[in-house]
Formats: sequence, structure tokens, C-alpha cells
Amino acid sequence: MSVVRFGVSLEKELLDELDELVAKNRFSNRSQAIRQLIADNVSRSKWECNNLVVGSITLIYDHHKRDLLNALNEVQHQFYEEVLAAQHFHINHDLCLEIIAVKGRAVRLTELADRLIAVKGVQHGKLTMSRPLPHETTKP
Ligand code: NI
Repeated sequence: MSVVRFGVSLEKELLDELDELVAKNRFSNRSQAIRQLIADNVSRSKWECNNLVVGSITLIYDHHKRDLLNALNEVQHQFYEEVLAAQHFHINHDLCLEIIAVKGRAVRLTELADRLIAVKGVQHGKLTMSRPLPHETTKP
């Protein structure tokens, strides 16, 4: 991919915030920070559509909650075509961390994540998706 240079004008305060992100080691330099922030935004706006993407769903939950495991299992079976694999980690006596690798249409993955995160007892949930996969055709 060819790289194009261009000038950017922005408010001093905004530039300070950008430099702060770089200083906190979130990015190695300004260019990388701007590149990543744009890429994140572009991929987020494409989540709603039919693009084929891969991603992960991170869940933290209390496994003692009644019916929670059954509910999570049930939802994943309804989306068996999208779920590639799931890994479970016992964080402490009560909490579990589950990371589910997913692949499919962005709109389906969003629906799957929303359903899992909505299960009673799930304390934290987050879906991360890639940019659209190249060289793969979208399902009809
Ligand atoms: Ni566990």
C-alpha cells in the first residue's frame, strides 16, 4: 500500500491531546496515531453493513448466576456459523473471562455480541471487529 503525505491543521489543544496519547505509549508517533484513529473510525462505520469481518467478543461474568451459562451457550448455538472458537479463563472464585473468536457479516456479529452482553449476569462485554476482509465475497 503506497503512503501519501499530507498536511493537517488542527487546534493546539487537540494536538496536545494527540501527543498525550503518543506519550502514554498508545502510539509510537503522530502519524501512526492518526492512521490508527482513522482506521478505527472507518471500520466502525462499516460494522452496520454486510461486510465480512473477523473479530472477538470479550465477556466477563459471574458463573454463579443462575441460568447464565445455559443462556450464553444457547445464543452461541444460534450463531454457530459465526462462532469460530471460544476460550474460557477462570479469573477468580466468582468471575470468568470468555473470549470468543468470530467471523461473519458485521451486522450478524453485532447482533451476536449484543445478545451475549445482554445475558443477565454478564458484567462486561465488548466486540472488536477487523476491517472488511479482502478477497472474500459476501454471503448473499
Ligand atoms: Ni470460569
